[in-house]
Amino acid sequence: MCGIVGYIGPKEKKEILLDGLQELEYRGYDSAGIAIIEGKKLSNFKAIGKLQNLREKTKAYESEGFGISIGHTRWATHGKPTELNAHPHLGTYSYVVHNGIIENYQILKEELQSDGVTFLSQTDTETIVHLFEKFYNKTDDAFPSFEKTIDKLEGAYATLLITEAAIDTIFFAKNGSPMLIGFDKDEVYFASSDTPIIGKATEVYYLEDGEYGYAKDGKVTLFNAKGERSFTKQALTANKVLAQKDGYRFFMEKEIYEQSRVMSETMMGRVLDSSIALDELDANFFDGISAIKICACGTSYHSALTSAYLFERISKVRCDIEIASEFRYKEPLLTKDTLFITISQSGETADTLEALKMAKSAGLKSLSICNVDNSSIVRESDAAILTRAGIEKGVASTKAFATQTMVLWILALYIGQEKKTISKEVLHREINAMLHTPKALMVTDMLHAKLNRLSKRYLHGHGFFFIGRDIFFPLALEGALKLKEISYMHAEGYPAGEMKHGPIALADAELFTIALMPKTMHYEKIKSNVEELSARDTTICAISPLPFDLADDFIQTKYDSHPMLEFFEMMVVTQLLALEISVRLGNDVDMPRNLAKSVTVE
Ligand code: AGP
Repeated sequence: MCGIVGYIGPKEKKEILLDGLQELEYRGYDSAGIAIIEGKKLSNFKAIGKLQNLREKTKAYESEGFGISIGHTRWATHGKPTELNAHPHLGTYSYVVHNGIIENYQILKEELQSDGVTFLSQTDTETIVHLFEKFYNKTDDAFPSFEKTIDKLEGAYATLLITEAAIDTIFFAKNGSPMLIGFDKDEVYFASSDTPIIGKATEVYYLEDGEYGYAKDGKVTLFNAKGERSFTKQALTANKVLAQKDGYRFFMEKEIYEQSRVMSETMMGRVLDSSIALDELDANFFDGISAIKICACGTSYHSALTSAYLFERISKVRCDIEIASEFRYKEPLLTKDTLFITISQSGETADTLEALKMAKSAGLKSLSICNVDNSSIVRESDAAILTRAGIEKGVASTKAFATQTMVLWILALYIGQEKKTISKEVLHREINAMLHTPKALMVTDMLHAKLNRLSKRYLHGHGFFFIGRDIFFPLALEGALKLKEISYMHAEGYPAGEMKHGPIALADAELFTIALMPKTMHYEKIKSNVEELSARDTTICAISPLPFDLADDFIQTKYDSHPMLEFFEMMVVTQLLALEISVRLGNDVDMPRNLAKSVTVE
């Protein structure tokens, strides 16, 4: 997710911009830049990698006096992370920053190129600044030119534009990507969220979709499709951590709610109308590959286990899964026709990194699926596919797991598409399900309230079993891990069909079984497994789209058309259940005892 900041006023601008971008780091990025216009003086700095690199580049620079300024952290969607692709993008005398996707940028770009415009970058954003200058060059009137530009754009955008043609004005527009305006006396701030302006602005206005306008002389003039409109500022909270939680009680809670939105980011540019695209992989990446081995730890291991079903069922590629800390010492037999995939949210997990080095020294091709660009595991791999979940602050992983699973599903389809092991009908069916995933991840107030109520009955007992079949077995493992991590109560995930081979001896009213009962995957089988447990007085919490009257507690899910939609919807239920139980037990949800967000030691 890109981050945007802007400032118009007399203060020193470099620090305002860089500090503001620092507050947006949690959104994830791979390059950054700032642009400042003070009278006739234009300054523009860009750097790839971390913000520190941009600070280095601007060390000798200091702005002074009144000016207009914009800054940006970029998460690559169109074009690789390079300085040329970093924002702000320059026309001839104007700069622009943008968050979102301009869906019609190709057509706009071709039109501009036929007018003789030269593009420096591969981004969709650059079309905005050239379009503005095309209109301005004809009219010498900045705001109408900006209005015409915005009118041409289709897709999602939050954008700021500054120009030598109006050295006392910042132009802005918002549609589909977040942006707000901060006010303090006669100074105006812009940002993607409020943390960058806390302590600077005292009032804020959160822009609505379709709104645009300009800031000049310490005030903002706002328009929407119906013309100029008034707006009401509100007081800005002064508590940064509270702001970073966006009003949620915990980062983990926020990250569960974020899953729906970030999933759209994960799919952007990859899940197309009738095909899958992975620009990160060269066309011949899978040449000579006939098997996949995936290595990971913890939650990442669970997304790996889930994907094994997908790779074999969809891509028809053999896939086995290894726990990294086991793999490192088992003297594995490795062959060069095997693609070695590592999955890691942090990209710094020691066991996973060492396993990757082992595979590489054995001559295997490597691919990492990671949430942090430029991390050790990403740098060590031949190729990487980023999950784009944004920074995950809760130690108990949620949105990282969801986006890892989506990337693996995308990869399974991509391999099936490239190796032609998947029919167009199946591809269309899978893509259709993918496009519904953000909806399946939506948290409703009713669901959260139900889990809050229900959680009071699960604060004791001699343990939990989470049971499921097929892809719902790794989901059961993940649900159990979430509960263990933040409630400190014992829970284990188990294949439903295996309960009768021993664990059913534990069945009694104090044994809580969370049963994942999807309609689209072996429903009758899982139903009979749960009936066996219920007959032995186990307390059952069933999660299913189909009513199940033997359950002591029952959460009815909505999606029943595709196993992966059921998977993601049930995943949210298990995450919220663990969260609400932990809250009732008074535990530190975000930083549970004994745990670290990234286990960089053996
Ligand atoms: C997940 O909730 C845990 N925090 C932990 O199991 C984690 O998934 C594991 O340590 C692997 O971390 P990674 O994904 O950063 O490699």
